[in-house]
Amino acid sequence: MSTSVFLKSRCVHGDMRVTNSNISHAAFVVALRLALTRSTRCFPDLFAGSSDSQADEQRRRCWLPATRHEDDAMDVLRAIAARRAVRDYTDAPVSRESIHELIDAAIQAPSARNRQPWSFAVLHDRDRIAGYAESARQWLLEHHREELGELAPMLEPPGYSLFHHAPALVIILATDDSTQSAEDCCLAAQNLMLAARKKNLGTCWIGLARPWLNVPATKDELGLPAHYPVVAPIIVGHPKHWPDAHERNPPEINWIEG
Ligand SMILES: Cc1cc2nc3c(=O)[nH]c(=O)nc-3n(C[C@H](O)[C@H](O)[C@H](O)COP(=O)(O)O)c2cc1C
Repeated sequence: MSTSVFLKSRCVHGDMRVTNSNISHAAFVVALRLALTRSTRCFPDLFAGSSDSQADEQRRRCWLPATRHEDDAMDVLRAIAARRAVRDYTDAPVSRESIHELIDAAIQAPSARNRQPWSFAVLHDRDRIAGYAESARQWLLEHHREELGELAPMLEPPGYSLFHHAPALVIILATDDSTQSAEDCCLAAQNLMLAARKKNLGTCWIGLARPWLNVPATKDELGLPAHYPVVAPIIVGHPKHWPDAHERNPPEINWIEG
């Protein structure tokens, strides 16, 4: 499967047919420089090794390879169909590199006015995640028992792990609370979960953890920016097995005609 269809539109700037027949030599040189800069972003593999600075590496990562193959589009549909909420993980850790690749896919999401109002916090320490799962569980039962409703009994047993013993947790935060920033973060979250499926990694959005993660003391403990609202806490790990799909209800569709 490939997620590269997400990225199809990214390299239009890389079309750099520059001729020197109708522009001056100076303009040609400027145009060529610009084109080469853009090519470095759009075709990072061609230019790999040209710079070892961290900033260049960061910039390079923002441009994933594009493709025009129809098969890749079909692969996205397969990833959509095969993604599941995974709540049972093996002991294997998730590498930093893998998490980076998921975030690279996440940031290809569309966003209102291309503001890209997202930020990512990554915790990849299973023991710390387990400790926070317990803190969040206790906090929820203490402060939100009523709102939990029928979920309260599920959280009651001390052994219940809100983060399902996952080895990694990616928290997507909005960089502001303006209209549509949360929506943009949700789109990034879905990209991340589909990219994870492509890499055979399981994910599960843990909405229950969101209120606790937004408590100022929690943000302080985790080093999350106080003014960034937490939108999507997503656990990541290697699934012990892929759960069966839940049936989907037929969609309610109103064709607006006439
Ligand atoms: C916004 C949101 C919040 C969710 N919160 C939780 C959660 O707190 N704990 C959990 O185990 N699963 C949570 N899930 C996972 C859903 O239960 C799951 O996506 C749903 O049952 C459909 O199953 P599927 O993802 O395998 O298709 C959440 C999913 C979404 C989209």
